[in-house]
Amino acid sequence: MQFSYANPTVIHFGKGQIQQIANSIPTDAKVLVIYGGGSIKSNGVYDQVVSALANHQWQEFSGVEPNPTKETLDGAIDIVKRDGIGFILAVGGGSVIDGSKFVAAAALHKGDSWDIMSGKYRIQDAVPLGAILTLPATGSESNMGGVITKKATHEKLAFMAPACYPKFAVLDPEAMKTLPERQLVNGLVDAWVHVCEQYITLPTGSMVHDGYAEVLLRNLLKLGADFGNQDDAWRENLMWTANQALNGLIGTGMPQDWATHMIGHELTALWNVDHARSLAIVQPSLLRNQIESKRGKLEQMGHNVFGLEAGADLAERTIDAIDNFYASFALDTQLSEVPGDKTDAIESVVKKLINNGYTALGENQAITPDVSRAILERAL
Ligand code: NZQ
Ligand code: ZN
Repeated sequence: MQFSYANPTVIHFGKGQIQQIANSIPTDAKVLVIYGGGSIKSNGVYDQVVSALANHQWQEFSGVEPNPTKETLDGAIDIVKRDGIGFILAVGGGSVIDGSKFVAAAALHKGDSWDIMSGKYRIQDAVPLGAILTLPATGSESNMGGVITKKATHEKLAFMAPACYPKFAVLDPEAMKTLPERQLVNGLVDAWVHVCEQYITLPTGSMVHDGYAEVLLRNLLKLGADFGNQDDAWRENLMWTANQALNGLIGTGMPQDWATHMIGHELTALWNVDHARSLAIVQPSLLRNQIESKRGKLEQMGHNVFGLEAGADLAERTIDAIDNFYASFALDTQLSEVPGDKTDAIESVVKKLINNGYTALGENQAITPDVSRAILERAL
């Protein structure tokens, strides 16, 4: 094990914490509040933001869509550049927070914003930003990543830059009360796969990383089983678990996979499949395809997370248990957007993976385009 670790995002967790932004955002900075399609107006979050910013000079940009696009975000980038915005406040789910990070970074770049995604521009600095989270899922509120789509070309790509860590994140579980069931399930499943991507790899013997990943997975299993009995504690536990799943801690210094995400992103880019659903479609097939190299960790997960009996087929039964976990939710794990013969759809995904340079995915770089094709043939 060898790593350097810091997560600089200050977390304000719990009921009523939105008012903390009054002190966390410098009063001499012009603030741009960025949000999505308007859910924050139905759950009191917007009103709390307005009241907390009473002593700030601020304006707003709305309409950031799920799977945020460069085309929409360019509008916010223009405002930041034109009006000398000194602080960005993202209020929403992963899409709004990712989009705000992109805006924060692109506003300090003279060229086209997509240069960030194509690698032509390397992010050195960003306008400081903070986040108010309304949907526990991605961990974006306290990590340095973002995923942006270019509508024109159906590309969905990820970026990471230390300058994009939010300065603070408010996690008030009260905001979750207006979440539709579909988005709650999405959040739970996304957080689950985030842990899996950092855990079902090679045995490393790291007791802290493994033990922490396992407790997060057991939490999510339990929260899934209690899905029908949501109370304050249920919401608090989901919000904190999803945050911890992708704030960098359980992955630091560890081999990581992320192939499910990279293949899943292409399903979203091509057919607008919800992010979490794309993962549930791809992951079981990927695990079955890679079972020999992942057998040790799958067995460990079977024992420590699902409480399965030992046996030669423990890894296989662990994947079945993951399948059953997804089946316990109303989550369509078939790519129903593409009816009938899926051959052309699979070829489109493989072609996009090649174009994006994703030709050696996974912790062993073993998932070549041919392997991706085999995974998709089994998944779809
Ligand atoms: O736009 P509004 O009106 O706010 O509605 C949103 C949106 O329609 C709604 N919503 C959010 N909070 C709500 C609410 N509705 C009612 N009550 C609330 N409290 O939920 C819908 C989906 O929101 P979105 O932000 O798209 O969902 P999520 O948080 O799952 O984010 C998904 C995006 O994050 C990326 C994904 O690829 C996708 O683009 N990811 C980002 C990661 C990261 N930055 O580390 C990692 C992830 O693996 C993921 O790839
Ligand atoms: Zn994800």
